[in-house]
Amino acid sequence: MKVFAFITAKGGCGKSSLTLEAATVFGNMYGKDKVLVIDLDQQLSISKNCGADTEAPNILDVLQGEVPIMDAVQHNDLFDIIIASPKLARADNIFDRAEEDEYLLADVLDFAKDTYDYVFIDPAPSRNILQEMLYIAADYIVIPTRVDESSLDAVVTTENELNRLTNGRNKKSHAKLIGYVLNEYNKQTALGQMALETLEQSSEEKDNNPFIATVSSAIRVSEAKTLHTAVCRTEKSSKTGREIYAIVEQMLEKIGEDA
Ligand SMILES: Nc1ncnc2c1ncn2[C@@H]1O[C@H](COP(=O)(O)OP(=O)(O)OP(=O)(O)O)[C@@H](O)[C@H]1O
Ligand SMILES: [Mg+2]
Repeated sequence: MKVFAFITAKGGCGKSSLTLEAATVFGNMYGKDKVLVIDLDQQLSISKNCGADTEAPNILDVLQGEVPIMDAVQHNDLFDIIIASPKLARADNIFDRAEEDEYLLADVLDFAKDTYDYVFIDPAPSRNILQEMLYIAADYIVIPTRVDESSLDAVVTTENELNRLTNGRNKKSHAKLIGYVLNEYNKQTALGQMALETLEQSSEEKDNNPFIATVSSAIRVSEAKTLHTAVCRTEKSSKTGREIYAIVEQMLEKIGEDA
């Protein structure tokens, strides 16, 4: 089982959209019953966008030991999913045995490893214990960003956070950064070009040279969530569809290098 997360310190960079699209592609390629999405966002973005039942057992129930992980799984048209709970907003109060609780997500995922080959975790919006749980449970991280300066700053913040957790005395995570996705990229703009160069430089500085992929701005991406589907399901050969497939190919290449 491989656990992926699109994660960055800045909100609205496309984490949930990219998770939904990439997980759909993995489902298309390997069977949708082999792919599990876990929603950690108290706003239930990806849960709602894929049309899951938002009243069903959720990941908080699972983390609290009230529901076995496999009983919280919903079989969706795109992939299997465990929804989030609005109560996750209080995660830091609910999970207050910090050190021990940080391992809860990794621990419960262990019970799903015989069923799923690929797991995608959609992060919480804020910096709390759920984020720590995610970094500990994840094998591979992809950082999405937009072209503006504050989104690119957040890439560095995210890398520093990952370094803090994967190195030194506080080593808790084995997650590897495998790629960057520049979202709503337009090669005609100076800002787009500059952002691409910034990422190229960041990639060159790393031993494993994370991939750099781009996704253009597309109304289809925002439309798909209202329609409870994925562009990669309905319009696989559209420009966006091809861009997402290219991301997945590069993810697979990186985890192949790692094997
Ligand atoms: N390539 C794209 N083209 C057009 N719209 C996009 C694209 N990517 C994302 N969006 C839209 O931008 C908004 C933010 O995207 P998304 O919800 O995926 O980001 P996020 O990082 O998950 O946000 P949050 O931090 O709130 O979890 C959404 O309305 C989404 O539909
Ligand atoms: Mg989101």
